[in-house]
Amino acid sequence: MCGIVGVTGRAPALPLLIDGLRRLEYRGYDSAGVAVLIPASALPSPGAADPASGIHESAQPRYVLSRHRSVGPVSRLAALLPDTALLPDTVLLPDAAPAGHGTAGIAHTRWATHGAVTEANAHPHVDAAGRVAVVHNGVLEDAARLRRQLLAEGEALASDTDSELLAVLVARAQRAGSGPEDAVRAALAGLHGTWGVVFAFADHPDVLVCARMGAPMVVGLGRAPGGDPRHDRTLVASDPQALLPWTRRVVFLEDGDLALLRPEGAVFSRLDGARRRPQVRVLDTPLAQVELGAFDDHMDREIAEQPEVLARALAGRLAADGTVVLGGIDLPPRRMAALPEALLVGCGTSLHAARVGAALFARLADLPAHAAEASELALHPPRLHPDALVLALSQSGETFDTLQAVGELELRGHEVLGLVNTVGSSLARRCGAGVYLRAGPEVSVASTKAFSAQVVALTLLALKLGRSRGLPAARATALARALLDLPDALAATREACAAPVAGAAALLSTARAVAFTGRGLSAPVAAEGALKLLELAYLPAMAWPGGALKHGPLALLDARTPVVALVPDDETRAAALTGLAEVCTRGAPTVVLHAPGDADAAALATISLPVAAADPLVAPLLQVLPLQQLARGTALALGRDIDRPRNLAKSVTVA
Ligand code: M6R
Repeated sequence: MCGIVGVTGRAPALPLLIDGLRRLEYRGYDSAGVAVLIPASALPSPGAADPASGIHESAQPRYVLSRHRSVGPVSRLAALLPDTALLPDTVLLPDAAPAGHGTAGIAHTRWATHGAVTEANAHPHVDAAGRVAVVHNGVLEDAARLRRQLLAEGEALASDTDSELLAVLVARAQRAGSGPEDAVRAALAGLHGTWGVVFAFADHPDVLVCARMGAPMVVGLGRAPGGDPRHDRTLVASDPQALLPWTRRVVFLEDGDLALLRPEGAVFSRLDGARRRPQVRVLDTPLAQVELGAFDDHMDREIAEQPEVLARALAGRLAADGTVVLGGIDLPPRRMAALPEALLVGCGTSLHAARVGAALFARLADLPAHAAEASELALHPPRLHPDALVLALSQSGETFDTLQAVGELELRGHEVLGLVNTVGSSLARRCGAGVYLRAGPEVSVASTKAFSAQVVALTLLALKLGRSRGLPAARATALARALLDLPDALAATREACAAPVAGAAALLSTARAVAFTGRGLSAPVAAEGALKLLELAYLPAMAWPGGALKHGPLALLDARTPVVALVPDDETRAAALTGLAEVCTRGAPTVVLHAPGDADAAALATISLPVAAADPLVAPLLQVLPLQQLARGTALALGRDIDRPRNLAKSVTVA
């Protein structure tokens, strides 16, 4: 969950580290910290400890780890640092760095697991002598026992975290005579749990060592072949986004990998010491996609981008006659025709997209399908037909629960296909086949455009399966037309809803709680609307299929508990209107999403949100956008941080 970035090079490390943290802040924002190797000669009185900056000393050290940490956002940390406005490409002789600066360091933005949100628990952690620093993403198993053991053996610990134990173990191995790489190997060999981890060493000031077990880690190679060695720079991060401004050549670590980084390059190995041949990939993600531009927040930008995302997700994959080409899911027609069932797994928004997908598989391809919460599935995997179609959905491709569920399914002999947004992510690499969502980097913690891209990909797959399982050509052609018209219909919906959404957001911002309802295909969309609202506005928000209200939830309703109802123009409309009438009778205000000309629905609406008319099977893609706008508008009215809701992080890489 946490963001990690590290660099060893010939230029000042701090500007790059802070830039990296800013790019990774969406992964965790409880606290942040940085440790840089600086020459001891640069200290006010050489060799002396500086309690204010957390500088540690040992007898006559040549280098020290200069550490700064702070609770809160990266901007607060940056304010504590020496001037980071130095050009990051300035070539420095390490011994001649300006005060407080060095050419190697590690940095971290935290999402707390072990230990409260305090400066003492913020990373980097160091051993008591200050010779080894660590930043860690993951959770060590049995940390309480290890902590007791280390304390009993006389080690001093300064935090409540499991991560600090790693620095202590590595420092011990160093004191026993190991070099950096072997010390890390020795420390990790005896541990269980998950880690994406980077170590820095005061006694080896241009070396970093990183390792991966269950938490992502990517090494960036900054030396262009034949390039000027004065610009050598090797980087590491938990997410390639932190590397984009500095290099496009990366190596993704796999579980059990370890890498030794120096400015001129990296050496890759396994925890058991075997050398590993790295596969260098070239990232083609445009940098501009992760920048805010003229928008107020990333969520605003990502909502607005959706018509374009839909067009990208369809490009080259759908012909006007309904023929679908999904390069990564190339099942022979006979296999598609014989599929006995399908299972789709994911978490949060990805799970809601999976639910839409399961309903589409049933309707278009007559394929029994269900969606499962990945965290539950990992505990109790269902018994599936050996030939079942199994799909894993994830925006980040790094969600721990989803990866664990995939592991369980693979253990049972199933091949899992991935629907993943982040190119080169753990899930994308793990699933032998699948499709990329093409949504582009999604930065806001609240997922928006990834949902739309997932639903498009699933609709295409349902259409493709359907054609092998009896879906008439005319129906396929009609649906293809609706899909190809979607980008325009969505842009129209976005515009038409802007004003009424503002009124609806004002209404919701005074609510005690909000109930969402939808039936059929709209039920998972209602659930997605409720998730968006509760994670952004911190309001209790629940979703029920419309028919379930009278079995209990109606008791909740009153003038301060509005209902957001989805009333699409499909076979659920009549029942949805009946349910809505029952809601109005109980005095609850209503926000109703309906087709522009639906006077019956409008008559029951306190506020109407017009959703462009389209084929009912693509309605989820049009309904979701006003719900995203509604959640954002309500959160803004309540003064919430849109891109960084409290207690959350973008990629949930821990159990
Ligand atoms: O990256 P993933 O799609 O695997 O993430 C799954 C969930 O953690 C994610 O959708 C989460 O629920 C979002 N914050 C919802 O907006």
